[in-house]
Amino acid sequence: MGAKKDWKVAIIPGDGTGPDIIKATVPVLEAIKNKYRLNISWEFGNGGLNCIEKYGTNLPETTIELLKRSDCVIKGPATTPEGATSEVSLAVKIRRMFDLYANVRPCKTLPNVQSLKPGIDLVIVRENTEGLYSGLDFQVNKDTAMAVRLITRPACQRISKFAFDLARTRKKHLTFVHKGNILKASDGLFKEVVDGVAKQYADVTLDDAHIDAMTQWLIKQPEWYDVLVMENMFGDILSDEAAMVVGGVGVGPSADIGEKYAMFEPIHGSAPKYTGMDKVNPIATILSVKMMLEWMGYKDAASALEKAVIDVLKEKRVLTYDLGGTAKCSEVGREIASKI
Ligand code: IPM
Ligand code: MG
Repeated sequence: MGAKKDWKVAIIPGDGTGPDIIKATVPVLEAIKNKYRLNISWEFGNGGLNCIEKYGTNLPETTIELLKRSDCVIKGPATTPEGATSEVSLAVKIRRMFDLYANVRPCKTLPNVQSLKPGIDLVIVRENTEGLYSGLDFQVNKDTAMAVRLITRPACQRISKFAFDLARTRKKHLTFVHKGNILKASDGLFKEVVDGVAKQYADVTLDDAHIDAMTQWLIKQPEWYDVLVMENMFGDILSDEAAMVVGGVGVGPSADIGEKYAMFEPIHGSAPKYTGMDKVNPIATILSVKMMLEWMGYKDAASALEKAVIDVLKEKRVLTYDLGGTAKCSEVGREIASKI
């Protein structure tokens, strides 16, 4: 993006533990804003299952207006019910509305967070608009239903370029994850595009792996990977595994990036059973804010935020239950803010 103007950020706390997490995250955002004099302001909006009763939808009109007058959104976890007649998930709606085509999910070994191996530092780049998430999922007759795994050349092209560009700023290694031996047409097309785009990135090493084998490699040699690119559902599944490999979804941030808008959200769900208990780990969301600062071009502020998180992890004093501690969600937020 590039540091510019006044950034307007929408914040949607979401459902379940979302409000607690956002309450813990805002002081961190405030601290970093003051320290680095960032031109960021924010405004809260409603979204998620909690809105259905009052507004009849998980994304009310007033929130859509808020999103449209902002540059990006920080979204807490939202609850997505199952069932053929239930609404499209809030996250998926926002991704579609703003064509947020790249879902970026970094997984890194962090201090005092139990990781399968030391030195893991990989990023999953998930195509975020097509595949089995295109909404082409329907009942054909009483006994048959089908979903279409939509793959188009333009979408493959932009996500491949995005992934190569990212790899170029890192360890210059890109892995294309697919199932081309079975999905010959759809992943065949994706592979053809990746191979074509690779010609413009001679400095990046490209390899590929089948998704099923990849779930094993990710456990066996996660430290070997840098950037991994794949279609939507493979990315959804593999990113949960990758997050667990480095210590759990409680520390897993993500960014959904489009040409003109972006969303920053933890990769975990809303954990309804802990609602209002001020219990869960806010770090996934706080690290998503770090990704937002990077996207805005505030590189120093982003590094400082990450360092504050790492310091708190290293000290081991103020950690939530998932990391073996007894601290509350709000205490972790305050501690990180105080380091800034
Ligand atoms: C994720 C989540 C979402 C997804 C759900 C909540 C719609 O699992 O962000 O990974 O499947 O994309
Ligand atoms: Mg998921």
